[in-house]
Amino acid sequence: MNIVVGVTGGIAAYKTVQLVRLFVKGGHDVTVIPTADALRFVGTPTWEAISRNTVTTSVHDDVARVRHVALGQAADLIVIAPATANTIAKMTAGLADDLLGTTLLATTAPVAIAPAMHTEMWRHPATQANIATLRDRGVHILGPAHGELTGGDSGPGRMLEPEEIHTAALALLAPQDLAGRTIAISAGGTREPIDPVRFLGNRSSGRQGAEVALAAADRGATVRLVAAHVDEGVLAAAERHPLIDVVRLSTAAELETAMTDAAASADVVVMVAAVADFRVAEVSHEKIRKENGAAHLDLVENPDILAGLVAARRPGQTVVGFAAETARDDAELRERGMRKRARKGVDLLAVNRVDWDAGFEAADNAVLLIDGTDAVVAEAAGSKRAVADALWDAVLALR
Ligand code: CTP
Repeated sequence: MNIVVGVTGGIAAYKTVQLVRLFVKGGHDVTVIPTADALRFVGTPTWEAISRNTVTTSVHDDVARVRHVALGQAADLIVIAPATANTIAKMTAGLADDLLGTTLLATTAPVAIAPAMHTEMWRHPATQANIATLRDRGVHILGPAHGELTGGDSGPGRMLEPEEIHTAALALLAPQDLAGRTIAISAGGTREPIDPVRFLGNRSSGRQGAEVALAAADRGATVRLVAAHVDEGVLAAAERHPLIDVVRLSTAAELETAMTDAAASADVVVMVAAVADFRVAEVSHEKIRKENGAAHLDLVENPDILAGLVAARRPGQTVVGFAAETARDDAELRERGMRKRARKGVDLLAVNRVDWDAGFEAADNAVLLIDGTDAVVAEAAGSKRAVADALWDAVLALR
């Protein structure tokens, strides 16, 4: 997607560097349009290096490409962060005395602004009237948050954090093609206790499952995200999302109960979690000590949760599984994926290409999507969000 990030003259501009980075990492083409004042806080080289695009502020640069309207015409989304009281007033009046102003008048794309200013300026009737006008025109107002401000004072006026703006902006880009659907998703890696300090676990970070949940919710679905162990911070965006209910737990047995419960009312069930195939037969309630000699662990098999969900599938319900497979080549990966798809009886299996530069803990992923007729309906590679969106496209095509 083409995203224009407008930056205006507030100290929070330094945080917008991180916002641009998040958009670029998500595979978007980002053009930054700072105002002249914004460049007093963060300079052109920073914006160009982070966005990987040329940055200008004036309507008199790059005139041959009619940049003053071209950027607005090509944009899929415009985000202004920080949006100062002055910029908000200019937007309300429709002023176009710089590149950001002309771009805003030339666009039909959704526009979101993240106001940042002192509390008195935010509360001023002029600013409040301007915000009301912009809201009436369909501009999305993100924040401001209540918190510490630059002068050491505190109150409403603080710009939302870049991660929060990023989540809200992506939601504006999403089609609402899952609106009205209820979806159950598992994520993360289960942990099977051995004794009070040890467990059997795996390397799943929970990132792919969290992105599957966020993509669904951004597309309008109501989501129950059942999360086993995940890396620090992975669930932050999901926990903030109004359409996602996050349930946290630990073992395969707990995950089975929670997913069975969530699946009972779900239109789509997606098992992304890495479930331990075995658990310790008898958990020791005391720490196992080495002075007692080499420990021996008896393992018993955990239930196959996905198989249980498939067996209990409601009419019209779609069940999706994930599988991480190593393979010498594409043909073998496909072959393994088809066999697992049939064994699990799922409507769709996302097969991870762990022999690509992708897999656990990484930001990117790559999957083959195999349906019930053994057809590879899609191959998706890129950010875990892009893979999640490809998965939902395939689910919608099946239904
Ligand atoms: N799964 C599950 N319950 C288990 C094991 C796996 O629900 N006890 C689910 C996973 O969430 C995933 C799918 O089954 O959606 C495939 O997981 P995978 O570990 O690849 O499958 P296994 O059946 O364990 O096969 P393998 O022998 O290849 O490990």
